[in-house]
Amino acid sequence: MDPNAPNPKHRNTPEYARYQRELFWAENEGVTPPFNTDPDKLEQRAEQKLSEGGWYYASSNAGQSLTHLANRQAFYRHKVLPRMLVDTNKRDTKTSIFGHKVSAPIGFAPIGINKIYNPEGELPVAQVAKELNLPYCLSTAGSQPIEDVGKANGAGPRFFQLYMPHDDELTVSLLKRAWDSGFTACILTVDTWQLGWRHNDVNTSDYAFYKGIGADLGLSDPVFQKKMKEAGIDPKTQPKEAGAMWIDNVWHGRAHTWEKIPWLIKTWKEISGGKPFAIKGIQRVDDARKCVEVGCDGIVVSNHAGRQVDGAIASLDALENIVNAVGDKTYIMYDSGVRGATDVFKALALGAKFVFVGRLWVWGLSIMGTTGVRHVMKSLLADFDIMMNVAGCQSVDQIDRSWLESQPKSYSLVQERSKL
Ligand code: GLV
Repeated sequence: MDPNAPNPKHRNTPEYARYQRELFWAENEGVTPPFNTDPDKLEQRAEQKLSEGGWYYASSNAGQSLTHLANRQAFYRHKVLPRMLVDTNKRDTKTSIFGHKVSAPIGFAPIGINKIYNPEGELPVAQVAKELNLPYCLSTAGSQPIEDVGKANGAGPRFFQLYMPHDDELTVSLLKRAWDSGFTACILTVDTWQLGWRHNDVNTSDYAFYKGIGADLGLSDPVFQKKMKEAGIDPKTQPKEAGAMWIDNVWHGRAHTWEKIPWLIKTWKEISGGKPFAIKGIQRVDDARKCVEVGCDGIVVSNHAGRQVDGAIASLDALENIVNAVGDKTYIMYDSGVRGATDVFKALALGAKFVFVGRLWVWGLSIMGTTGVRHVMKSLLADFDIMMNVAGCQSVDQIDRSWLESQPKSYSLVQERSKL
């Protein structure tokens, strides 16, 4: 591409499309692009790099992976209708989320225990999110203290994903720490009281916390420290017992119900002075309506990337249903199964205002740490920016259903590309 192309003059964000030019030119500078970002190749390379436990945990889905398959199938049934001869010299990927102006409608989904993918855990991820001005979500199952992740993310926009304990004092402590560390929205996950049945993990006792790995977010909590003391557990000499006590407070297997939500919203709003509250893991229209009734500022339509309920509907199909029902009443976000810019585009076209990606950056982190996460996410931004350029789209606001030609819903046994 022409390095003097006029687009940068017309946008507030970097022209991400240029990353392609940089990589095409790289060889002339004696530099090799870090690795192939084709999602299947990315996944294979991550498998080679990771320990067996890291690989199983990152790649596992519930049961027979049918929900994961449905997530991918649903993307195949929507095709993009590119527009030609549109002045995409004037284009910008920018958007906003919960009052933050960000580079693109793409965020880092909350993913726990990053230390099993990289010794620095969540820190490089939060750092890259800041560099790219994309929102970062920290999982309650994260493996670094909330405060350290906040520091690594600096001035970046960040949200705290809550797995809610049954100990309100502990919940309040986590929320206060998150607020004090600059996390400006609370996203409650409601589909994971405990992990789904994931064969490989169960078969290999692959639960890092029970091995004393990755519990730092909890072990650094003053309320949890007090509770450990009361229970007579010393995290220094009993790391497995401490890790287990922490994660058994988080993935406790004891469902919360709608009755608890008003308390949580009130508590978060009091702590944060009214910052947004969203629920993640919604798939049904009646549940989406309840989210609106209880006063959620947003919903993340998600089936946890197929890791929780096996044989569930595709998250993209759920998105369509939920947008039709409450799309004008709350801020709808999307997550599950995204593998490239066209998937982001399709979710936006179906009415999501924002899209979170998970496994892509986990593979990048696993392969090459900070460089890996940066390469994956810059590539996704470039792919999205180029897509807007070649498909005739000038702004995120323009992306609506007119961009899609969609086949009827179907769950025929189309396999993943890599398995054909
Ligand atoms: C936790 O969120 C998981 O999916 O393992």
